[in-house]
Amino acid sequence: MLTHEDNQLLTQVGKGTPGGELMRRYWHPVAATSQLDDDPVQAVRILGEDLVLFRDRSGTLGLIAQRCPHRNMNLRFGMPEENGLRCPYHGWMFDATGVCIDTPLEPPESTFKDKITTQAYPVQELGGLVWAYLGPDPAPLLPRWDLLVKEGGFRQIVGHQLPCNWLQVMENRGDLGHAIYLHGQFFQYTLEKQGKLTDDPKARYNSAAANQESRLARGAYQRYEPRYNQFGMTKANLDSDKSEDTPTWRVGTNPILFPYHLAFGPGRRTIRQTYQLGVPIDDTHTWHIQYFCYMFPPEVGVPEQDSIPYAEVPLKDEHGEYILNNVLAQDMMAWYEQGEITDRTQEHLGVSDACVIAYRQMLRDQIKVVRDGGEPINVFRDPATIERPELALDPPEIDRVTQENVAAKQATVYRSNFHQMSKGGWLYLDDDIDRYCPDRDTVVELYRRADEMGVADVRRSF
Ligand code: FES
Ligand SMILES: [Fe+2]
Repeated sequence: MLTHEDNQLLTQVGKGTPGGELMRRYWHPVAATSQLDDDPVQAVRILGEDLVLFRDRSGTLGLIAQRCPHRNMNLRFGMPEENGLRCPYHGWMFDATGVCIDTPLEPPESTFKDKITTQAYPVQELGGLVWAYLGPDPAPLLPRWDLLVKEGGFRQIVGHQLPCNWLQVMENRGDLGHAIYLHGQFFQYTLEKQGKLTDDPKARYNSAAANQESRLARGAYQRYEPRYNQFGMTKANLDSDKSEDTPTWRVGTNPILFPYHLAFGPGRRTIRQTYQLGVPIDDTHTWHIQYFCYMFPPEVGVPEQDSIPYAEVPLKDEHGEYILNNVLAQDMMAWYEQGEITDRTQEHLGVSDACVIAYRQMLRDQIKVVRDGGEPINVFRDPATIERPELALDPPEIDRVTQENVAAKQATVYRSNFHQMSKGGWLYLDDDIDRYCPDRDTVVELYRRADEMGVADVRRSF
């Protein structure tokens, strides 16, 4: 349970709030690059600020205030020109640094424009996303995390607009226990109502539920503990009747890269590698990004991608009903059904919430670091520290252990995740958000080819 003040401290992202000032020390994704191919001018809301992202005709990206300083026209309707964005109302033009470079209705000799600037923020493209920095100068370096830059990856991005605060999304990252019920018994219940429940023991809802039944029958429960590293933390879990001398208990799995970046694995020898990012739009909205990077063996012949495709997926189906029959959709439902900004003065945390408590403390600590004039974790200024073709977590054992663990698991389940048919007649690929990937069929085809060539053994080094 938190006080009301503590809840505000941890959830607010607006300018001038302690949490908002912490967030303004990081680069944030504000759009998928491919969205600019569809329309070079995009409305962006990030950390409670309304902005306009544009690519001018020379290819330069700019992120400037939404309101034109002349008479407040919305520059979302601006027209990109060679060196900037022109307001559609009276033609004022702004370059990517926010300088007004033309006021065409003023007399030719006027120097009026020299007095005009608008708010502008630096932006950079990386890995199919446009990233922005809204904090104090000088801007830190944009970290080049592994999946964004790995050679030979086949990438695609799925996004959702969530009507809830970003911290609810983040707390889920430490909440390992939810998978047992939300992705087990609740998944079963959802499919039962749809008449699609199968008894296939390999289906994740059945295996999650069966494991829990076994735990309860043994009088056991899952234990959870945080394990800290240089970028944030991993989460360790262990059945209470099992030996602590297991690698995943010692080092944990699924790293959180502070503040809101979840890196599955990092057993980076698997084919399907993903990030999840919960980007704070404002206090009550979050842009959820699931970032896929498939690392097929080179002989499979992964096609070149001119651009990384992005699909924005609704939370409800065409009948207005919540989509609940895939894993991420279940997570999202749980996040926003806690309320816009969940009232943490009313909660009752138990032992199983240990990693949620740990993440909150980490957030509180980093807010204090910024308040005291310091630099929080994961702010990079040395170019030698931003190249992360591998995550390379400390201690190095994390990488090795999770690699072995995930590879061993994936070796048996990857087929079922992609193109094997369940007894209910649907592809296992469909039990997660992968079903919405813009290039889903290409991925299935690449798996098929890898199988055919006999090169899909995920334990191999590639
Ligand atoms: S409102 Fe933009 S030029 Fe007039
Ligand atoms: Fe989940």
